[in-house]
Amino acid sequence: MTAVSEASTEASLAQLLDLSGQVALVTGAGQGVGATIARYLAAQGAAVAVNDYRAERAESVAGQIREDGGTAIAVPADVTDYPAVRSAVERVSGELGPVSILVNNAGNAGAEPRAGRRGPFWESEPADWEPFLAVNLHGVLACCRAVLPGMVHSGHGRLVTVISDAGRVGEAGMEAYSAAKAGAAGLMRALARSLGRHQVTANCVAIGLTDTPTLAAVTGNPELTRKVLSNYLIRRVGRPSDAAAVVTLLASPAGSWITGQTYPVNGGFSVSQ
Ligand SMILES: NC(=O)c1ccc[n+]([C@@H]2O[C@H](COP(=O)([O-])OP(=O)(O)OC[C@H]3O[C@@H](n4cnc5c(N)ncnc54)[C@H](O)[C@@H]3O)[C@@H](O)[C@H]2O)c1
Repeated sequence: MTAVSEASTEASLAQLLDLSGQVALVTGAGQGVGATIARYLAAQGAAVAVNDYRAERAESVAGQIREDGGTAIAVPADVTDYPAVRSAVERVSGELGPVSILVNNAGNAGAEPRAGRRGPFWESEPADWEPFLAVNLHGVLACCRAVLPGMVHSGHGRLVTVISDAGRVGEAGMEAYSAAKAGAAGLMRALARSLGRHQVTANCVAIGLTDTPTLAAVTGNPELTRKVLSNYLIRRVGRPSDAAAVVTLLASPAGSWITGQTYPVNGGFSVSQ
């Protein structure tokens, strides 16, 4: 457990952000936003299980955290494979302790090998939607289902799901992705209702254009980047740390009275949306 009880009124900010004794599972943490989230949670004292279905990426990030003095293990698994998720959660429980923080970060916006064809939705087939729904929605359902018995049993837990502005306001041409991310936000709100009495919070962080390897096609194209940023009040591309800082706050004792919310981290894009 953390150094700060949920009822504490005198805690310092450092105590409120202290994750000592917590066990975090971060999905899709082999690179990009998820890797930074894993490093931030470890830096605050959490033992971190680094998930990615690309095992070498998960091993690399877990190794970096250990080199920096933190506690981390790699738990490769495909979040869309429920039995594999359950095994991963059992392994985390055995090696680090029961998961008290779940960050659903793994996502597929079309860059993964299993991604549907792009094009008008009215010309699409179910096979084009399935990969988006699988990772961005079914994966979140699977991971929440796997960790929640432990959280409910202990009377403490944090669920944080990384969604997208596409899930908040919708994105033309990304209908299945938008629907899946919006679905994940709906799931967090529903879980917030059912889990509040167990001191388990459930929130989303909705991020805008963020500089990760997967988004290099956009962030490496100055003209395209300028076009996207014309809708942002703060005209820079997001950094993984922008999202990771908010996720860390929601995962910490500082977030104990915040649940059922979606936080936009997007340079003010949401003001006009
Ligand atoms: N980068 C952006 O601009 C942006 C914008 C909006 C939302 N997001 C969301 O933020 C999250 C992180 O984005 P990112 O750009 O860092 O992603 P990324 O593609 O750079 O990294 C995601 C990681 O998840 C892993 N992964 C993919 N499918 C998986 C699965 N089924 N099981 C386990 N691991 C899996 C990948 O191997 C990869 O290492 C995603 O949910 C994404 O949808 C990103």
